[in-house]
Amino acid sequence: METSLLILKPDAVQRGLMGRIVSRLEDKGLQIVGVKLMQISPELAATHYKDHAGKGFYNGLVGFMTSSPVLVLAVRGIGAITICRNMMGATFGSKAVAGTIRGDFGVSNSFNLIHGSDSPEAAARELGLFFKAGEVLDFPRASDRWVYDSSSGKSE
Ligand code: RTP
Ligand code: MG
Repeated sequence: METSLLILKPDAVQRGLMGRIVSRLEDKGLQIVGVKLMQISPELAATHYKDHAGKGFYNGLVGFMTSSPVLVLAVRGIGAITICRNMMGATFGSKAVAGTIRGDFGVSNSFNLIHGSDSPEAAARELGLFFKAGEVLDFPRASDRWVYDSSSGKSE
């Protein structure tokens, strides 16, 4: 099982898209194991996006991410990190294909609705930035036996 850190960005919260985006994740079979509505501080945004410091879009990105509350999610499943990235779609709303979150809900390249961890290392780092110990829960889900085929002894 992998856990990814997703952020429904200020545009998603302000546009009332939280429920529809969370529903897509649940419909896919992913498990929501942590949720937090919060306003990101400039310091936290800078730490989260440290790899982009110095780039032309960086100041705008930090300004946007701190401009209004976000919904932070911990999302779990087999292959969850890649599955979430695929569900998000390409970075720019103008390029993201239909059927993805960015492709279906937006046209902007900077107001692109959602962040998702791009590797297991990034997920571990980002989960630690946004959730304290005990805020990401570990609990069995009754539907797991129908979400995953465990007949071989291994869930797949
Ligand atoms: P995110 O980190 O937000 O999940 O997005 P991402 O992986 O798809 O894209 P990334 O390359 O990490 O860029 C982070 C955010 O910066 C903005 N951006 N603008 N103008 C540009 O060339 C440019 N490149 C990136 C986007 O808002 C992107 O989500
Ligand atoms: Mg990124």
